[in-house]
Amino acid sequence: MNRTVYVNGEYLPEEAAKISVFDRGFLMADAVYEVTSVLDGRLIDFAGHVARLERSLGELDMANPVTAEELLAIHRELVTRNALTDGLIYLQVSRGSSGDRDFIFPDPARVPSTIVLFTQSKPGLCDNPQAATGLKVISIPDIRWGRRDIKTVQLLYPSMGKMMAQKAGCDDAWLVADGFVTEGTSNNAYIVRNGTIVTRDLSHDILHGITRSAVLRFAREAQMTVEERPFTIAEARGADEAFITSASAFVLPVVDIDGAAIGPGVPGPVARRLREIYLEESRKTAI
Ligand code: PDD
Repeated sequence: MNRTVYVNGEYLPEEAAKISVFDRGFLMADAVYEVTSVLDGRLIDFAGHVARLERSLGELDMANPVTAEELLAIHRELVTRNALTDGLIYLQVSRGSSGDRDFIFPDPARVPSTIVLFTQSKPGLCDNPQAATGLKVISIPDIRWGRRDIKTVQLLYPSMGKMMAQKAGCDDAWLVADGFVTEGTSNNAYIVRNGTIVTRDLSHDILHGITRSAVLRFAREAQMTVEERPFTIAEARGADEAFITSASAFVLPVVDIDGAAIGPGVPGPVARRLREIYLEESRKTAI
């Protein structure tokens, strides 16, 4: 590929972009990230992603190298330079490099954060065939750290979860802590029972999904009932429907958990309707 990427103030061909081997994002996973989707060349839920980035940085006492206005300008410039129509923009901010390996955080006045952004072209992002077939998931223990609300780049266990799912002939894994589903490896998890949408409440246990927040708002506006509470895999297996949300998947139905069909084993009407509403409404506010 010959993308143009952004690194610390410069737009560069991807093969010319470099960061230090001592970067704390690389050595310590001392970095946070965001993924924003692009449809028709416009950014979906951008304000939400910027607000969460600022929160993640604040929770880790990490300096924010750019303002919200600069971030918007960089995102737009990358869309233009890469002629991106449908796809994703990945953004990562790390605590930078002090020129050596050290557990102690460097002084932010001396060591600037590292900021990297790149595009991923995904033609047909909103026509994902999985919206029609549904996903199959497995359940696995959630052994991640206790601040999953901070969007850090510690993605080894989520990657391992996707590999376990792949090995089992499935699409993804739902993570279970203390008997209750927290979320998917890279998405928020929901079930539908008797018309009520159930998803885990916000806490340090899950990422506060930007898509989750929008989808729950649209569901309530459409007079659907939402319950924010934990649920078990047993409850999910007995549900009428299940689905996930994320910036890259939007809303995708889940039709099978650990080999048991959910409801009739095909995508359900609530997930289908929420996907339609989400795509329609978020396009309206795309910038
Ligand atoms: N993942 N939960 C986890 C653990 C996630 O990694 C994500 C997003 C979400 C959904 O959040 P949002 O709706 O803001 O995308 C929930 C991104 C897409 C990723 O890692 O690629």
